[in-house]
Amino acid sequence: MKRDTHPSGAPWRNFYGRFKGKTLRPSQEAYLDEDLAKLSPGAVDWDVNPDREAIDLKPLFGEKDVWLEIGFGGGEHMVHQAVQTPDVGIIGCEPFINGVAMLLGKIRAAEAENIAVYPGDVRNMFDVLPEASISRAFLLYPDPWPKKRHHRRRFVTQEYLTPLCKVLKKGAILRVATDIPDYVRQTLEEVPRHGFEWLAERPADWREPWDDWISTRYEQKALREGRVPHYLTFRKR
Ligand SMILES: C[S@@+](CC[C@H](N)C(=O)[O-])C[C@H]1O[C@@H](n2cnc3c(N)ncnc32)[C@H](O)[C@@H]1O
Repeated sequence: MKRDTHPSGAPWRNFYGRFKGKTLRPSQEAYLDEDLAKLSPGAVDWDVNPDREAIDLKPLFGEKDVWLEIGFGGGEHMVHQAVQTPDVGIIGCEPFINGVAMLLGKIRAAEAENIAVYPGDVRNMFDVLPEASISRAFLLYPDPWPKKRHHRRRFVTQEYLTPLCKVLKKGAILRVATDIPDYVRQTLEEVPRHGFEWLAERPADWREPWDDWISTRYEQKALREGRVPHYLTFRKR
């Protein structure tokens, strides 16, 4: 029998990534035990918020602009942005718990205080973010899903782009980095269709990284393997 909801009422959303990898080091277990609850953005999971009420971002970040990083991996980019721009608050979503543990170590080391962490699927976060509450979103090296029959699992599809557009403010910026040419194609096709304009005016705008960029783990791997990064910047219309 195919189920379309969990007992909590949550929709049955296919997730094809990994939740857990190698055994965590004791220090990483400690970060998760001691820090994760303190960094929670609020009631995001279905079991604690079955009516999907919008969360209040004020207690988290006051009047600061709020940014969102989707699939932060090991968290190096998010911590870098948080340290560089202390006048914004950044929410990161990542279901891979080893990545979350890595991020928590980096937050401790950097003593960053403007980060909130949701250790789960960004679609749950979209449900409860207030409309037009986010002024910048980062989608950095999303899972490539190279096989044609898997392209519909990509982030640059309606399932993700429609709710993303809803939670972004008018004029908000969306940054997408990818090393997969066919992902560039799909991004340039789908993202404008979902309410964004591509801001590139010349090749350097997508060939060169953003001024405030720090290379992520996945980008390092792509470069080692000879793939070419693309940096796409969109603005919500
Ligand atoms: C290829 S990795 C890139 C990680 C990181 N951004 C980097 O550049 O190193 C893609 C990440 O997206 C995460 N991811 C996949 N689906 C997701 C979802 N629905 N919500 C949030 N993160 C997701 C994966 O767990 C994985 O860590």
